Amino acid sequence: MDGTQIPRHVAVIMDGNGRWAKKRLLPRGAGHRAGMERMIALSEHAFDRGVQYCTLFALSTENLLRPKEELDGLFSLFRSYFQKNVLRLKEKKITLRVIGDLSLLPSDIETLVKCGEAETAGGGRGTLTLAIGYGGRQDILAAVNRAVREGKEVTAESFAHLLYTDGIPDPDLLIRTGKELRLSNFLLWQCAYTELYFTEKYFPDFSDKEFDKALEAYASRERRYGKVGK
Ligand code: IPE
Ligand code: IPE
Ligand code: MG
Repeated sequence: MDGTQIPRHVAVIMDGNGRWAKKRLLPRGAGHRAGMERMIALSEHAFDRGVQYCTLFALSTENLLRPKEELDGLFSLFRSYFQKNVLRLKEKKITLRVIGDLSLLPSDIETLVKCGEAETAGGGRGTLTLAIGYGGRQDILAAVNRAVREGKEVTAESFAHLLYTDGIPDPDLLIRTGKELRLSNFLLWQCAYTELYFTEKYFPDFSDKEFDKALEAYASRERRYGKVGK
């Protein structure tokens, strides 16, 4: 694959954990555990392929309305993820960022996130962004309200600085696993000109090889940004 055609920023909607588990007659939590393992391995693979920014949708604002039992299981998985992986990311010089409304999450998760971000800050190899308690509309509304409070008119450029993703370029490629063909409130502003790739694979089955297929599909796209093509 030609190195110049590697997307600088890949975003992934990690969907299908529950259905992966159901197919195996396992509880949904087993699907989330398998998804978490895959998430760790996949993000390393993405950076090995030359991706510089990898943004993973792990939990939406709307997901916070799921049953308490499922959410408690997910929060336990996040806790163990942060504890196990922050040092590893630091060693690999990958900066961890978390986007979303952390006040919606248990307070110890907020503390773990802040420590993880501080611990990995300045890693030069890439940025791994986890979207937790994130909603695209909420992101846009918070930015609008901030601009209104500050009494400032915004441009597309200055508005981008008010979003959670400030400092992160827009995604070049967005992958959604798990069969659905929708954005489910992810990075709505940021994906204006992002290339979209949908796969039927449930996230725990979305292997490194499947990720490479998405990179290949991206390499054959012509990005026109509204202009006339070649
Ligand atoms: C994605 O898997 C992970 C989260 C949203 C937390 P789902 O839990 O949505 O899995 P399905 O879509 O029910 O299979
Ligand atoms: C999108 O998946 C959110 C994440 C993967 C974190 P959902 O399972 O919440 O999306 P819908 O409900 O199918 O649109
Ligand atoms: Mg789902």
